[in-house]
Amino acid sequence: MDKDAPPGPCYFVIFGATGSLASLKLLPALFHLEAAGRLHDDLRLLAFSRRLWNQEQWQRHMRQVVEEQAGGRFSAEAYSRFAGRFEYVAGDLHDPEAYRRLVEALSRPRLGSCENIAFYLAISPKDFGVVSQRLSEAGFSKHSGRHRIVLEKPFGEDIESARALNALLHRYFDEEQIYRIDHYLGKETVQNLLVFRFANTLIEPVWNRNYIDHVQITVAEQQGIGSRAGYYDHAGALRDMLQNHLMQLLTVVAMEPPATLEADALRDEKVKVLRSIRPIARQAAHASVFRAQYAAGRVGAKEVPGYQDEAGVAAHSTTETYVAAKFYIDNWRWGGVPFYLRTGKRLAEPLSAVSIRFRQPPQQLFRETPMEHVDPNWVVLSIQPKECMHMEIHAKQPGLGMRTRMIRLDASYRRHDEVPLDAYETLLLDVIQGDRSLFLRFDEVELAWRVVDPILHHWARETGFIHTYPAGSWGPEGADRLFDGDDQCWRNSI
Ligand code: BG6
Repeated sequence: MDKDAPPGPCYFVIFGATGSLASLKLLPALFHLEAAGRLHDDLRLLAFSRRLWNQEQWQRHMRQVVEEQAGGRFSAEAYSRFAGRFEYVAGDLHDPEAYRRLVEALSRPRLGSCENIAFYLAISPKDFGVVSQRLSEAGFSKHSGRHRIVLEKPFGEDIESARALNALLHRYFDEEQIYRIDHYLGKETVQNLLVFRFANTLIEPVWNRNYIDHVQITVAEQQGIGSRAGYYDHAGALRDMLQNHLMQLLTVVAMEPPATLEADALRDEKVKVLRSIRPIARQAAHASVFRAQYAAGRVGAKEVPGYQDEAGVAAHSTTETYVAAKFYIDNWRWGGVPFYLRTGKRLAEPLSAVSIRFRQPPQQLFRETPMEHVDPNWVVLSIQPKECMHMEIHAKQPGLGMRTRMIRLDASYRRHDEVPLDAYETLLLDVIQGDRSLFLRFDEVELAWRVVDPILHHWARETGFIHTYPAGSWGPEGADRLFDGDDQCWRNSI
């Protein structure tokens, strides 16, 4: 994870520059990097979109987007540097002529002949193939200097379509040129998990089946599907979140220490975890996975409609907006330890966290004292909205008698004056600098589909019905049946 900028000029081309991903994530993240002085003087940005705009119209649009998104972090001085880096090219993704204009724009004398180019495909996955082909026809492809393409998820919709997409991309680009983003890997706490585990002698010896009772990975969202029914109603929570973000969190929690922090060393260890996940057998599906859909309810003070009443959702849709699943990792470190994963929309609170529950002490030494019940220890790594880590341990309450209370060893790592980074800031800088460690290699994507595919097949046989949960709740009660032990339950707070 070498963050030194590569020498020489670089072009960063955004396909879909006027779309929502560019407006909500890419432009604000690039602007924040500019304001923080992290962009190389020789970096040029090129916006490509279907809208027939001239440079002024693009600049007007971009200023509005950046001002809106940056809020209090907007600075006119940084913005003027940022805007000066941009050029706009209008064109249809399918039209070879548009790519000729792109080549022209990239060959203008500003950077001389520049081989270092990143193409960010902030477009629908159905266009990944055509854009790769057109780029290749225009001369940007395999073995061509330092050209690379960046792809957003979803990467396929099952293992077969993911393989087909990969084969298509490989006609035009080598694996080292393909950057598959999972933005959860850019989140600070996720990277901190690596530091927490591998930079502290204290943690690693207890990070295994001898001490850990179970692991919970929760990504709870309060928001509904908004205007994304077109995509979401086909994808559902399993494909949208669990196959990628939650699986990646699981690999970082469970992986062995890599030999180095180089991209392939890290990815090799993550792949071993994915390979060791026990596939969910058909007869175990009901006990191992639970899906549901939000019904109307109240989120905070607001009444919100059910999923079925969201604009664009198909009548009688049984798409899941909540999924909980139990996995086992069949290796020496984790044999027998359940990993409970859950994610849902319209839940009670936004909360993303990894919570690790430790086993009870082997001897109940305090049984005869007023301490009736000893709660187990937890380590909680909260990803958002609050970034923090803490351990819960017992201490004696001051005073007469043997009573304890749970205290927290708080390892929150951000000081008040340290501004939180958006995951995209980290990841875009990595793209510019050619660091692939936080991007997915195809075998990771493929193995994650291997875990999820049996669930999709199982659900494909049960299309007529889906459980519901009221919006604003913590999800369906049925998800509790996943737990192996009576003393296990979902942790809904950090
Ligand atoms: C995206 C999903 O990948 O991640 C969305 O498509 C989801 O459905 C989003 O809302 C969550 O990301 P974050 O960073 O807001 O937790």
